[in-house]
Amino acid sequence: MTTLRTNTPNCHLHSCPHRIFYSRLFLRGPLKPVSALYPGSFDPPTNGHLDLIERGAKIFEELVVGILRNTEKSPMFSLAERLEMLKTLTAHLKNVRIEAFHGLMVEYAKSIDATCVLRGIRAVSDYEYELQMALMNRKLEPTLETVFMMPADKYSYVSSRLVREVAQAGGPVKGLVPEVVEQKLREKLEPAYRFHDEMQEGRAPGAKEKKRKRKS
Ligand code: PNS
Repeated sequence: MTTLRTNTPNCHLHSCPHRIFYSRLFLRGPLKPVSALYPGSFDPPTNGHLDLIERGAKIFEELVVGILRNTEKSPMFSLAERLEMLKTLTAHLKNVRIEAFHGLMVEYAKSIDATCVLRGIRAVSDYEYELQMALMNRKLEPTLETVFMMPADKYSYVSSRLVREVAQAGGPVKGLVPEVVEQKLREKLEPAYRFHDEMQEGRAPGAKEKKRKRKS
């Protein structure tokens, strides 16, 4: 075993209480601050996304939230709307930047000097897809590491797809998405929400009939 001597008298790495500090400094050099990319569709951003951004902002020097400009899917929210919502939601996080990207995620990560990709894992069901994606990205760019973090368990069932589904039927999304997003969903899906509310209040055509049938 090699012992690294320092200039401090009687201080050998294996016995020095500061050996972790010394080993970092002399053997590997100080660890570099990491810039990470959190890519996704964010259609719309949910409380789970925001939770992960806040966690990521605590451990990375800089966190870039990259919104995929996906030309194949037709998103509910335009790229401009998603950019605006996420910028508003993360305004309090000084080391977080919101950007849009297209094409290969690994190439975009390289272009912004991100050495790490952040992804959220909610349940075992996410794992297979995320593992496949992480390994494909590693094949494309071996120097880019993927780091998985878990959102708070109260958001473990929240996904953009389910939020869209509930909102499209005029259902409540309070607590699943930030208020700004909830408001945008209400504006975008105004007829669905109006119809849902009228049904609940028994004002929609056929609502009373439906209620009667349910009771009998
Ligand atoms: O929020 P999502 O839809 O789960 O995010 C998926 C995303 C945007 C991270 C992924 O589809 C992606 O990185 N797309 C960019 C194109 C790419 O690099 N594809 C190869 C991924 S293995």
